[in-house]
Amino acid sequence: MGQLDGKVALITGGASGIGAATVRLFHAEGAKVMIADLQTDVADALAAELGDGVQARRCNVAKEEDVAGVVADTVAAFGRLDVLYNNAGFGGAMGPFKDTPVEEYDMTMDVLLKSVFLGIKHASPVMMDQRSGSIISTSSICGIAPGIGPHLYTVAKAGVVMMTKSAALELAEYDVRVNCICPGMIATPLAAGAPISRDADRATHRVDKLRGFNAGVQPIERSGEATDIANVALFLASDASEWMTGTAQVMDGGYTLGRPWRKLAPMVTEHRPIRLYNPDTM
Ligand SMILES: NC(=O)c1ccc[n+]([C@@H]2O[C@H](COP(=O)([O-])OP(=O)(O)OC[C@H]3O[C@@H](n4cnc5c(N)ncnc54)[C@H](O)[C@@H]3O)[C@@H](O)[C@H]2O)c1
Repeated sequence: MGQLDGKVALITGGASGIGAATVRLFHAEGAKVMIADLQTDVADALAAELGDGVQARRCNVAKEEDVAGVVADTVAAFGRLDVLYNNAGFGGAMGPFKDTPVEEYDMTMDVLLKSVFLGIKHASPVMMDQRSGSIISTSSICGIAPGIGPHLYTVAKAGVVMMTKSAALELAEYDVRVNCICPGMIATPLAAGAPISRDADRATHRVDKLRGFNAGVQPIERSGEATDIANVALFLASDASEWMTGTAQVMDGGYTLGRPWRKLAPMVTEHRPIRLYNPDTM
């Protein structure tokens, strides 16, 4: 018995990284899966590898007609829609505010935030009619604290958290749940700056290097893996989380706690007797 037996899931950005790991896990747990991505060759190859019950469509998540189309295609192919995972993304505009062109602002917000709005807009009517569904989106730890990622990535991911909560409030009475995930440092082509459709070998090499770098940056001293986030998505997609809505699930190896304990200042990690403070003489 799979945890997603009988369920149908639509996963954006399912060709690579977190999305691809989630496609594999959902398929292994019994779901029928539609992959929606721009990297059509890679998405088609993954669908062909997994076989029956997995299909792929080209979709730009920033375009309303594409998102509406892939929702309709999913229902046409598999008969229903139980899970939407809004996961596609990219790094967006980099650098100071003063150097950021408005076109890059628009593109960043379109891909990272408008996409989530479009996903909820077009999937929710199907799920409301079914009176069940789970909408999941990939935010980031950047969405809950500044200074980890670029400005607009941070702003867009914070928007994903609040869009999740606002939508959850509206859809709860239809038993449609809306949650998001805030991953920490995950070894994927995006984080390594190497989209796989350009050169799969280069992407693998860069991701391996990043994995080594990521290992030392959070209290649990190994890099985050795409499968770590896929496991959270599985929980949110499954009936095990049926009373959970409007949440932002942090999965970051403790990154948001601070640096690994032994890398903190000695005054934090070593016992020193209190000497200079004496309430009796103050
Ligand atoms: N890797 C990390 O450290 C990390 C941390 C926090 C959050 N995230 C988020 O996780 C999500 C997945 O990223 P990943 O790290 O797996 O990266 P990835 O590059 O491995 O995968 C992203 C996928 O999204 C697709 N995509 C990009 N733009 C698209 C568009 N306009 N329409 C459709 N598909 C599009 C890409 O083709 C790719 O297959 C993103 O939203 C990202 O912001 C990643």
